[in-house]
Amino acid sequence: MFVRKDGTVYFFCSSKCERNFGLGRKGRKVKWVSREKTERTFVMIKPDGVRAGLVDEVRSRIQKAGLRVVASKRLKLSRELAEQLYSPHKGKPFFDDLVKFVCSGEVEVMVVEGKKAVSKMRELIGPTDPSKAPKGTIRGDFGKSITENVIHAADSRENAERELSLFFK
Ligand code: CMP
Repeated sequence: MFVRKDGTVYFFCSSKCERNFGLGRKGRKVKWVSREKTERTFVMIKPDGVRAGLVDEVRSRIQKAGLRVVASKRLKLSRELAEQLYSPHKGKPFFDDLVKFVCSGEVEVMVVEGKKAVSKMRELIGPTDPSKAPKGTIRGDFGKSITENVIHAADSRENAERELSLFFK
């Protein structure tokens, strides 16, 4: 295999082919195509993020990361929907406060699409606790506390599917 500076990748069917290429003889040229699948993930800007007017800022960071917002809507969560969204945390000490907080105002829910969308979104938002989130991440730049941490993004493909199905039929 030979990679040119412009990203063109040459594969050779045999070592003879490769030698011919080195000698300037014509080889078969194959443009590299990434085989990573496009993923979809679920993102929710929480009431503190919406109240602080961060929706456009978040959208712009998503786009700069090479991802696309393919659907979105603004709504106020019912207690029932919030409990469904956070059902993996049911029984934890922070569950009730979390549900109460995400129902305290409007949220913006989004379908975000792109290669490695789940892990790229997690990188973009940063760790759950804003005090531990680096500057440059959404929570690091705008989060106030572990509850008021601006944004949620699914932590796995399985959870992304489950969460998307709650909001986007
Ligand atoms: P989120 O990514 O929306 O997923 C679960 C949420 O629970 C998390 O962000 C936090 O806002 C909230 N939370 C509150 N307390 C805790 C805690 N001690 N550990 C983890 N998550 C917490």
